[in-house]
Amino acid sequence: MTLLVARDLRKTFAGGVRAVDGVDLSIGAGETLGLVGESGCGKSTLARLVLRLIEPDGGVLAFRGNDITHLPERAMRALRRDMGVVFQDPFGSLNPRMSVAQLLAEPLRVHGIGNGASRAARVSALLDLVGLLPEHAARYPHEFSGGQRQRIAIARALATEPAFLVCDEPTSALDVSIQAQVLNLLRELQERLGLACLFVSHNLAAVRHMAPRVAVMYLGQVVEEAPREAIFGAPQHPYTQALLSAVAEPGAARRQRIVLKGEVPSPADPPSGCRFRTRCPRAVTRCAAEVPALAELAPGHRVACHFPGVLEGV
Ligand SMILES: Nc1ncnc2c1ncn2[C@@H]1O[C@H](COP(=O)(O)OP(=O)(O)OP(=O)(O)O)[C@@H](O)[C@H]1O
Ligand code: SF4
Ligand SMILES: [Mg+2]
Repeated sequence: MTLLVARDLRKTFAGGVRAVDGVDLSIGAGETLGLVGESGCGKSTLARLVLRLIEPDGGVLAFRGNDITHLPERAMRALRRDMGVVFQDPFGSLNPRMSVAQLLAEPLRVHGIGNGASRAARVSALLDLVGLLPEHAARYPHEFSGGQRQRIAIARALATEPAFLVCDEPTSALDVSIQAQVLNLLRELQERLGLACLFVSHNLAAVRHMAPRVAVMYLGQVVEEAPREAIFGAPQHPYTQALLSAVAEPGAARRQRIVLKGEVPSPADPPSGCRFRTRCPRAVTRCAAEVPALAELAPGHRVACHFPGVLEGV
């Protein structure tokens, strides 16, 4: 069953910033989609759009087959029980004046789930689920390490047993030594609870670890989407190839190294035709004139490029 579908989703901010500019995606029940791209390409805006934390100004968004594109906030509230979110900064998302027990019980209270006793039991179960101890319930966010705080944020996101979880750079603020632990926890929970997940990160290794299917964003648009093996093993879009080449270990990959030239253009004034053309090593005249469609080259492998193909010498 398809849980979430976005069609031609758009969001423009003040100043004409086209943060998300015509994105299609679909996430099935229990499925994880990874979303990668450089800073500012619109990942968080897309994540906030699919959660309806911000309202799209174009396109259609459906959840469980219902059109929620412009669903009023009051009607959204009931749906939010079914959508969890984990942000990058657990400090920003956890009220410092609330104990862990209060933080974990709050979503239950807000949605009118259970009574005092059943909520206390649920708090214990949630702590156990994320690898924290019963005595942690009485403590406050500042008493925890960054990794533990993110565990609390994950427990809180899962309190209402959502079917869909959005993780926006969930480990980017953590020490490298802690990142793998939190990623492993997220993957284990995703599998065990059968969660559908949109996993957003600029970190390719994290996305590769988490997501069997990956979408690559550039300047507000998806430029390539494919199963993990194809994205990392045989990427077809020059931008994906450049992203991978930037993190390739010297000597480990036979992939030829591509250095991205120039800055990311302003999303308020994107280049004509293909948006990547100002930095693309393969660009020709046609690329300035014609917008490449996101075309399916192989089952489940979509690429927006006039000249897709694996690199020579790979
Ligand atoms: N509330 C806002 N008002 C105006 N512009 C915004 C707003 N939020 C984001 N933007 C702009 O929209 C574009 C996309 O931003 P977004 O945060 O979605 O990117 P991102 O891919 O999540 O980047 P990062 O990797 O840095 O988190 C950027 O140009 C950003 O400056
Ligand atoms: S359409 Fe042209 S500019 Fe765009 S990615 Fe393909 S080759 Fe490069
Ligand atoms: Mg972001």
